[in-house]
Amino acid sequence: MSKDAVKPDPGANRSRTPTSQAFLDYMGSGWADDSSETVAVSPAAEFTPLRRAKVAAAFAGEVIVIEAGPAATRSNDTEYRYRPHSAFAHLTGWGAHTVPDSVLVIDARTEATKSILFLRETAGKDSSEFFANSAIGEFWVGQRPSLSAVSQLLAIETRSLSEYEDFLSKLENNYITLENLALAEFVSELRLVKDDFEIAEMRKAVAASIKGFEEVASNLGKAMAHPRGERVVETAFFSQARAEGHDLGYETIAAAGHHACTLHWIINNGPVRDGDLLLLDAGVEVESLYTADVTRTIPINGKFSPLQREIYEAVLEAADAVFAMAKPGVLFKEMHATAMRVIAEKTHGWGFLPGSVEDSLNPENQHHRRWMVHGTGHHLGLDVHDCAQARREMSMDAELKPGMIFTIEPGLYFHKDDLLVPAEFRGIGVRIEDDVLVTETGVENLTAALPRKVDELEAWLAKHR
Ligand code: GLY
Ligand code: MN
Ligand code: MN
Repeated sequence: MSKDAVKPDPGANRSRTPTSQAFLDYMGSGWADDSSETVAVSPAAEFTPLRRAKVAAAFAGEVIVIEAGPAATRSNDTEYRYRPHSAFAHLTGWGAHTVPDSVLVIDARTEATKSILFLRETAGKDSSEFFANSAIGEFWVGQRPSLSAVSQLLAIETRSLSEYEDFLSKLENNYITLENLALAEFVSELRLVKDDFEIAEMRKAVAASIKGFEEVASNLGKAMAHPRGERVVETAFFSQARAEGHDLGYETIAAAGHHACTLHWIINNGPVRDGDLLLLDAGVEVESLYTADVTRTIPINGKFSPLQREIYEAVLEAADAVFAMAKPGVLFKEMHATAMRVIAEKTHGWGFLPGSVEDSLNPENQHHRRWMVHGTGHHLGLDVHDCAQARREMSMDAELKPGMIFTIEPGLYFHKDDLLVPAEFRGIGVRIEDDVLVTETGVENLTAALPRKVDELEAWLAKHR
């Protein structure tokens, strides 16, 4: 199907909508005129021209095409809630309310570069699409904005998607898309350092996520009483994600007891038991599509046991060691090495390593990694694992710069069947994950309002449960 064709209605074969011209005329009449809407300009619009200018400068002479992408099918004629491609969201500033299939074109063929946003404009109530197309008809899925409304909102030239096919054919294949590796890398790396709009949105995502954690704390009793208490935890967080933001930034990990050792446990069908820990890794994505990524590991009955506390504080020490050294100029891999040294020392202290700490830190050995196989952090922003296409020298091997936002998330996981640790350690998993912003002198913990120290976490639980 070409982009400008009207989308077929997947539900058409069960539709009983009348098709006579008389009905069409009747449906097309009697509606108030709503064409004089005025739209406030998005705060993102102050920042997006510079982002696009950087792309244009790097790919001078080219036409750059960035697609928002289609709605993804969930099954048959139902679709997932729409989310545009993150590069599209970044370069247009259009977030959760992006019209599916929109396309951004940055025309850098001449020095006076220009950007055009193609979108499926409102169809008009005199069209049969309006009431008869369940996929995109406005009677079904809600009103689409006009070209001028989107132009005002995002401060960009807009054109109808119906003109896109023709526009593209005139380029005779002389354009590049995100399939071009250099372009994909560039737009990914463009997001490594966040601008003021992005930092403000990340603060909102964090604030909404903290409300989600509080909601979970309030629902712990209910979770303990339910055979699938992890689902109660998951949905308590989700209620806040939808009420306070747009959605989840990723599937919630609600892992009680030994499920905490499964790093991406999202089945969430287990019980939440007195005496166990609950590892909750969850983040709210706000309307602009920026997401937080936060983990706290909490004692379900409100109080850490001595061993749970010891393991928790080992992880906290690893995190704090990273906090203490993270600042502009430090390399990402140095942060990881800092956390790994603490993890090696702790596991050595418990007698779990076959040799010394230095032996284990030898790249050939890495015995301590048995209990923390994941990385110590990752960039965070529009994607939970942000800037994922950045070249290695721009990511792990790169220096921290002011404006970067990333996670610090060490953990320790002792599987229930791990015979290399004493029985009392088995089935305990702890992760502590914070979101930080690099400042001129260090890092600011954006998630600091959520307690991390044992005593403060216990007090927080007592307050909210
Ligand atoms: N929530 C996935 C992660 O922490 O990376
Ligand atoms: Mn993370
Ligand atoms: Mn996480």
